[in-house]
Amino acid sequence: MNFDVVEKNIGLMLVGIIAVISLGGLAEIVPLFYQDAVVQPIEGLRPLTALELEGRDLYIREGCVGCHSQMIRPLRAETERYGHYSLAGESVWDHPFLFGSKRTGPDLARVGKRYSDEWHRAHLVDPRSVVPQSNMPGFPWLEKDKLDGAQTAAKMRGLRAVGVPYADADIDGAQAAVAGQTEISALIAYLQQLGTHLRRDVP
Ligand code: HEC
Repeated sequence: MNFDVVEKNIGLMLVGIIAVISLGGLAEIVPLFYQDAVVQPIEGLRPLTALELEGRDLYIREGCVGCHSQMIRPLRAETERYGHYSLAGESVWDHPFLFGSKRTGPDLARVGKRYSDEWHRAHLVDPRSVVPQSNMPGFPWLEKDKLDGAQTAAKMRGLRAVGVPYADADIDGAQAAVAGQTEISALIAYLQQLGTHLRRDVP
């Protein structure tokens, strides 16, 4: 077959390029919708508690995602530093995903339980009090501002509508679980569960 005509006609070339990229894209993307490893939660995953969910929203509000990723790639340098690489089944209930793409600071996908609550409290209020060379900004207001939990139940109902398995009891108790807590407690609760659901005996 002679393709000279396609090479000399930019219109035909464009149609050809679009057709090839579309087919290639579909062939890569569509099967992912049906693969259990990608759409099923890992064993042991649980939805964020009311307090952790408020912490997640503070993580978004304060722009932590602009300096921290939550995505450990399957590369030796990353798994030795951060732990087991991230699995799709760990983030199936994340709406929105907070994978991030900028690492001014370290990846946080498995930071849960690595430090004590007290360490996080000191670090978030004044990072240089625990890491002298840190250039992370302090977030001292988190320690003073309190949550009222007025929106927490509504947020959980919204997440349930897109597939996060919250029970009625979780939602009914949401405001009581959050009201009066400081913002820093919520953020620390969120950080402390990050990456902790994957069974460590999985190779
Ligand atoms: C301007 C960039 C920047 C922003 C914004 C930022 N960080 Fe950091 N973060 C860093 C840097 C740099 C480090 C490494 C030095 C240190 O430990 O303080 C760090 C370290 C950390 C660590 C310790 C990680 C480890 O494995 O040692 C945690 C936890 C953390 N940040 C949480 C947060 C949270 C939560 C927020 C949002 C409230 C946030 N960071 C916002 C830059 C940032």
